Amino acid sequence: MILTFVGTAGSGKTTLTRAFGKYLEENDYRVSYVNLDTGVKKLPYRPDLDVRVEVTAWEIMEEGYGPNGAIVESYDRLLPRVSEYVSSIMELDGENNYVLLDTPGQMETFLFHDFGVRLMEGLPEPLTVYLFSPDILRKPADFCFARFFGLMIELRLGTTTVPAMSKVDTVENLEEYRRYLDDVEYLTARLRLEPSTQGLLAYRMCSTLPELAPPTRVLYISTQTGEGFDDLETLAYEHRCTCGDLT
Ligand code: GTP
Repeated sequence: MILTFVGTAGSGKTTLTRAFGKYLEENDYRVSYVNLDTGVKKLPYRPDLDVRVEVTAWEIMEEGYGPNGAIVESYDRLLPRVSEYVSSIMELDGENNYVLLDTPGQMETFLFHDFGVRLMEGLPEPLTVYLFSPDILRKPADFCFARFFGLMIELRLGTTTVPAMSKVDTVENLEEYRRYLDDVEYLTARLRLEPSTQGLLAYRMCSTLPELAPPTRVLYISTQTGEGFDDLETLAYEHRCTCGDLT
């Protein structure tokens, strides 16, 4: 089972890769770890496959590139080897129960560079977990944004994508968040009351979600408490067995 953690910088991908991997190991699964971030300096897990062996953003910066240019250049240099990475990941998949892919800090590096897209296209039925922090959810339109972003990732990478709110231990009113994220009809009804242009756009977009989005659950995860790990494990298992039906 190949699980890919995708999300904006600081959403918790690396911490979750480590914590969920540990949880799986404690449950007697064989787990391997893949680091796809050329810019990371220190990892809390020991990667079985690490793109930094080939190139790091830091060494490219020493050639005179700025931080963003160096990151893009690092994936340009990795691109010719993308099929080798696909083969290595498939090999790890054959030897282990789970392969956890930790993606670049900046999500756009993975979604907008051919390296990320072609890597995912080459893998057999990976499940993508789209991590977003509760910090980005302030008003009803933000919940619509998060649900749609998961869908856009699915469209871009061509993999089944599960939206997952991270850091749930930091929110006091989780039920409120769940109401908006789990119940699209409730969210749509709430958006209907928004007087702004943004609210109207969100209302229109959200109205199409039941038709557009494949049936899926939203996950609620904390690496601090382990909340949601069993749900993620169940979902990964269901994905493997049913290939896509994650209601
Ligand atoms: P990049 O390093 O930019 O790739 O970010 P990332 O998405 O890998 O996030 P990372 O795992 O580095 O976590 C960012 C910060 O959030 C760290 O300080 C973590 O300790 C913290 N964090 C991650 N998960 C949780 C969580 O479930 N709860 C809390 N409270 N903090 C978390």
